[in-house]
Amino acid sequence: MTDSRVTTRFKLSTVLLLALIAICFYAPSALGQAQAQRSPVAPTKEQVQAVIDDAYAQFKTDTEGKNADYIPALAQVDPKLFGIVVISTDDQMASAGDIDRAFSIQSISKVFSLALAMEELGPDEVFAKIGSEPTGRPFNSVEAVVDMPTHTGNAFVNAGAIATVSLIQAPSADAKWDKLLDFYSKAAGEKLSLLPDVYKSEAATNTGNRALAALLLKYERIYADPVESVDVYTKQCSVGVTAKQLAMMGATLANFGKNPMTGEQVIKRENVAEILSAMTMAGLYDGSGGWAWHVGLPAKSGVGGGIVAIVPGKGAIAVFAPPLDEAGNSVKAQKAIAYVADKLGIDLFSPQSVGLK
Ligand code: DON
Repeated sequence: MTDSRVTTRFKLSTVLLLALIAICFYAPSALGQAQAQRSPVAPTKEQVQAVIDDAYAQFKTDTEGKNADYIPALAQVDPKLFGIVVISTDDQMASAGDIDRAFSIQSISKVFSLALAMEELGPDEVFAKIGSEPTGRPFNSVEAVVDMPTHTGNAFVNAGAIATVSLIQAPSADAKWDKLLDFYSKAAGEKLSLLPDVYKSEAATNTGNRALAALLLKYERIYADPVESVDVYTKQCSVGVTAKQLAMMGATLANFGKNPMTGEQVIKRENVAEILSAMTMAGLYDGSGGWAWHVGLPAKSGVGGGIVAIVPGKGAIAVFAPPLDEAGNSVKAQKAIAYVADKLGIDLFSPQSVGLK
């Protein structure tokens, strides 16, 4: 063998060796990026921040709507509070306004109680016992309980939500409450707690919910003591969240159940599609059809003024602004999310959402 051949072989094997070392070093980080589950059509953090800043400026002085007052404590909340947060499935955050102010989660809690019931009983049993049909009626409707074939309707109207709480397995009402709060906290990635003033205020005035629970008992559609179930439900509605924490809870759903910050798989991956479908059908009550038409994102509202919208595989948008419309949905939150969704092209039913023009 000539000297030049030996040199060529030596050079080749050195190159191969170096390539092998490079693969060993860089492949795990490439894999890590894939595991972050970032959508290839997700906008950059800077693009999202610019859109949020615009939405905040545009709707900040909007005075449409009125705070809920059937729960007296909610009427006391400053109606000018307004915060917008987006958190992506790779844990990037963009925000504006009052994002660290705690407010009561109210009906948004129903999403996570549904998720917990599904963890425990499986989706089929929850669907059979609760259902997922829009009621076309207000969230506290007695008529819906009488008329709907399931009586519960879905997990997001008050009757269906109280029945969902009754499904959660625990040796006592206190243990059930602890379990729910722990589950919500895992979704938020930090410890959440009850807002005592809101709880006391609602517990003193929730005669309608007690009537709904009694009616469910008549139809045999509640699965634990009705009085205890209403009390645990009232506590879950009184959990305090900030817009930031709510966005993380939403991002956990967007990330198919895995909290993007803690990395914990909080909700079974295979249950998320059903939860999001329920949010699409009934997340904004009798405003859900219009919301799906105009915005095209699964979302859930609460009478505390919060709304969280989910963009599967990409992230979540949470907005807090107390004044509500007739259906009980925050006016400014709806406007801000609709604006952000339109500018970012994330309506799930649009070609833009999959990267097409
Ligand atoms: O039971 C109630 O009426 C309240 N704790 C929750 C209602 C609610 O948030 C409806 N949402 N838009």
